[in-house]
Amino acid sequence: MAKDKNLFVCQSCGAAYPKWQGRCDACGEWNTLTEETPVQRGPGPAAKAGGGRRVEFVGLKGHSAPPPRIPTGIAELDRVLGGGLVAASAILVGGDPGIGKSTILLQAAARVASAGRRVLYVSGEEAVEQVRLRAARLGLTDSPMALAAATSLRDIIASLEQESDAALVVIDSIQTVWLDALDSAPGTVAQVRACAAELIRLAKARGFAIVLVGHVTKEGTLAGPRVLEHMVDATLYFEGDRGHQFRILRAVKNRFGATDEIGVFEMTGTGLVEVANPSALFLAERRGNVSGSAVFAGIEGTRPVLVEVQALLSPSSGGSPRRQVVGWDSGRLSMLMAVLESRCGLSLGQNDVYLNIAGGLRIAEPAADLAVAAALVSAATDRPTDPDRVYFGEVGLSGEVRQVAQAEARLREAAKLGFGRATLPRRVARGGKAPSAPDGIALTETGHMADLVA
Ligand code: TYD
Ligand code: MG
Repeated sequence: MAKDKNLFVCQSCGAAYPKWQGRCDACGEWNTLTEETPVQRGPGPAAKAGGGRRVEFVGLKGHSAPPPRIPTGIAELDRVLGGGLVAASAILVGGDPGIGKSTILLQAAARVASAGRRVLYVSGEEAVEQVRLRAARLGLTDSPMALAAATSLRDIIASLEQESDAALVVIDSIQTVWLDALDSAPGTVAQVRACAAELIRLAKARGFAIVLVGHVTKEGTLAGPRVLEHMVDATLYFEGDRGHQFRILRAVKNRFGATDEIGVFEMTGTGLVEVANPSALFLAERRGNVSGSAVFAGIEGTRPVLVEVQALLSPSSGGSPRRQVVGWDSGRLSMLMAVLESRCGLSLGQNDVYLNIAGGLRIAEPAADLAVAAALVSAATDRPTDPDRVYFGEVGLSGEVRQVAQAEARLREAAKLGFGRATLPRRVARGGKAPSAPDGIALTETGHMADLVA
C-alpha cells in the first residue's frame, strides 16, 4: 500500500488539499490550512470481495416506542431539546467562549444527577478545583454527579467503558480531547473528528446521552467541528452578547424535535436562570415616544416573542453610506430600503442606516419586514410610532404586504403584554381566514407599504 501522504486540512470547513496554500478555496478563509496525517481508512476495496451479511429491509408500518427521554429539569433547555435528552444520542453545544456553555451544562448535569441518574462530567478546559468553585457559586455542591479533568481520549474511553449505568456524559470541550495515534494537534479537524466519532460510538453502544461542547470561531462556525454537525443528533447554539445578560439557546439541528426552537436565559450572579416570559424581558427597556422604534410580534420556534426593532439614520460623512445591522439580515435591510425609496417615495438617500434588534435576539423571519419598515419610516420622518402597537408582515418587492403564519398567536402574545393595536397584512380574498383578534386589540390591515408611510 502506498504510504499515506500528509494532507493540508482547512480548520474552518474541513476541505483537504495536497499542498499548502494561503487561502482555502472552499470557504475563502485565510491561513486556516494545517498539515494533518490522514486517518486510516477501513478495508476499502476489500468490501467488494464479499463476506458481508444480508441486510434486512422492513416496511414503514410497525410499532416503535418514542425514544426514552431524560428531563434535564431546566424547562427552557428541555424544550429546545424537544422534551429532554434522548438516551443514546449525541448533542453538540456550540457558542462563543464565555457565553455560558459550561455553566448551563453543569447546572443540567447536576439536576440530572440529583434526580438519581449517573452523570459524568469530563472537563478538559478547567481543573477540578475550578469546576468545584463554579459549582459552589451555583449552589450545586450537593449534587452526586461525578467530575473528572481529562483530555486523553484513551483515558476517557477506558473510564467510560467501566461505567455500567451512565445516563449522561458531558465532554467540555471536544477541542481539548486528543488521540495520541494522530499526529495533529488537539482541536484540529482530524483530532476533533476522530475523538467525537469514538465517543459517539460508545454512547450509542452503551445507551448514554453524550453532550459535546464545541467552541465557535469569530465567524460564527464551530471551529473545525463544522464536520461534527452531521455526526451528532442535535446541534444547539448558545447565542447572545457577552455584554448583555440574555442568552439564547437555539436548536439548529434536532433529529428528535423541532429546530428553530429557542430557550431564553438570563446570566445572573448565580448562574443561568430561565426566562419564562421573554417578550416582557426584551421589551423591558423600551422607551416610548422616541422615533425609530417599532415592536415586532415574532414567532421563534413554537413560541411568540415580541421584540423592539430600532433604526437610526444619520447624515453620511461622505463616501458610500454605512449600513450596520445587528440581529437581522443586512441583505433584507437593503431590499426594504430600496422598496421604501422606489415604491413609497421615501428618501433615505445619503444617510448612514443602523438597525438593531434590542436584547440580542437574532431574527430570521421575513415577517419582521413590516416592523423594520415602520422603524425606518419613523426614523426618517422623526415621528415616533404608536407605542401601543405591534407590527408583523412580509414585504414584497412591489411594496405589497404579504401574509405570514400564526397571526393569531402573535396577536394573543401582544394582547397578553398589554398592547392595544396591531398592524398586519390585509386579509386576502382567496380564502385567507381572518385572524380573530383577541379582546382589546384593534387591527389595522395594510395591503401596501405606502399605507405605512402615509
Ligand atoms: P462559562 O460557562 O464558563 O462559558 P463557556 O463555557 O461558554 O466558555 O461562562 C463564563 C461566564 O459567565 C463568565 O464570564 C462569568 C459568567 N458567570 C456569571 O455571570 N455567573 C455565574 O454564576 C457563572 C458561573 C458565570
Ligand atoms: Mg467552558
